[in-house]
Amino acid sequence: MAKKRYAQVGVGDRSFMYSWALTERFCDHAELVGLCDNNLGRLRTRAEWIAGHGLEVPIYLDTEFDRMIAETKPDVVIVTSKDATHDRYICRAMELGCDVITEKPMTTDEHKCQRILDTQKRTGRQCTVTFNYRYSPPRTQLKDLLMSGVIGNVVSVDFHWVLDTRHGADYFRRWHRNKANSGGLLVHKATHHFDLVNWWLSDVPESVFALGARNFYRPETAERYGFTRRSERCLDCPEADKCPFHLDLRAYPRLAETYLKNEQYDGYFRDRCVFSGDIDIEDTMHLTVRYRSGATMSYSLHAFSPWEGYTVAITGTKGRIEHVAQETVYISGDGTVPGELKPEGTHIRIFPHFCSPYEVELWKAEGGHGGADPVMLGVLFDPTTPADKYLRAADQRSGAWSILTGIAGNRSLEWGRPVQIEELVHGLELPDYPPMPDPTEPIDPLPLKHSTATRRSG
Ligand SMILES: NC(=O)c1ccc[n+]([C@@H]2O[C@H](COP(=O)([O-])OP(=O)(O)OC[C@H]3O[C@@H](n4cnc5c(N)ncnc54)[C@H](O)[C@@H]3O)[C@@H](O)[C@H]2O)c1
Repeated sequence: MAKKRYAQVGVGDRSFMYSWALTERFCDHAELVGLCDNNLGRLRTRAEWIAGHGLEVPIYLDTEFDRMIAETKPDVVIVTSKDATHDRYICRAMELGCDVITEKPMTTDEHKCQRILDTQKRTGRQCTVTFNYRYSPPRTQLKDLLMSGVIGNVVSVDFHWVLDTRHGADYFRRWHRNKANSGGLLVHKATHHFDLVNWWLSDVPESVFALGARNFYRPETAERYGFTRRSERCLDCPEADKCPFHLDLRAYPRLAETYLKNEQYDGYFRDRCVFSGDIDIEDTMHLTVRYRSGATMSYSLHAFSPWEGYTVAITGTKGRIEHVAQETVYISGDGTVPGELKPEGTHIRIFPHFCSPYEVELWKAEGGHGGADPVMLGVLFDPTTPADKYLRAADQRSGAWSILTGIAGNRSLEWGRPVQIEELVHGLELPDYPPMPDPTEPIDPLPLKHSTATRRSG
């Protein structure tokens, strides 16, 4: 079978995983044929790394994207550029006859989302959105439990995600700090969380109300810490010795190589002050969401927590599941494995109505983002991967439904009222989701009396 041809656009930190997958793990099935970015330095660095594998891959600036497609003839374009630029490459790649694999968030606002949906329909090309969080074994296990009907039909979700003062703070140093680039954390980060809920429930959101603010990462906090001489970036900051948020790019070879060395090409600073007045994203967010099935969710996201991870409690007609996960401490691109689960801080407990609660043994998770990345790469690039009963591979429909919760949240913050998803886009179809328990099925009122199963108390 001929190898599939891939081009990549955006060669920053996240893209490396895909370059590695194409040149090493899946090189029997895949071929990397072109690289594109607006930063010539990062392009050269990546091309040199690939040359170390005996491969020559041509590089193109962002203005030369069409030429890259014409000259290298990829089957698939992998989009890992800055969020607000995704729509440009997703749409153009499909118009030029390519399929697309895009990183989350699919895009950052409702207008760009509509353009992607319309272009996909018009061209008939395949658009995959890489929701790696679905593939994390404990999160897949939660889907498995919900599909089994152990808590009946889901009626409500309490979902609370905390980002710590290391990884969470990092969003306030990088391009993510401005909504024009990232859509804010309700889109950039929470797209993962809203996709998980849509997929866990096999449901889609209908209306969203949000409250949010920037309470911590602002100039007033620096003043309260006593940082009177703070600079706009860490590299030359006179307060460096006192500041717990100081990031010295020179101390991390991979960060220095990817960003510091290449500032001359685009003027991008990876280490801007987390207390800067230029930041316009929230660090504290609360949402209330109603789903099409009638289920409701309360969701919160905080970006200055002492630990990182989440608690989710899902209540159903037969009981409740509580899942807690703690992640390791890291900053993006520091050379460590990002977002690994801490086994001692991760559990799933089931509380059936009228029976003893119990804890389930967790499915083993190893590798980046809760063990998700290695599994997802297999699904993306290995044609021999078996069919998936959880339907974890997502397309533009799931990409849209997940960002629309966050985009509706942003509009709700602006407009000061609940926002209906149908106000934002039209013609959006339902994703393919696995079947869930039938909500009309009778419920056993005396499960304990009729059960012979023995269970471990939690
Ligand atoms: N799924 C996950 O767990 C996960 C993790 C990290 C990042 N991501 C996603 O991956 C993408 C990249 O994030 P990153 O952390 O690598 O950021 P990054 O800043 O390291 O890389 C972004 C790259 O995009 C390039 N770029 C900027 N504007 C461009 C343009 N107009 N045209 C072409 N290239 C342009 C930059 O030069 C840079 O090389 C983002 O969409 C992010 O949301 C996903």
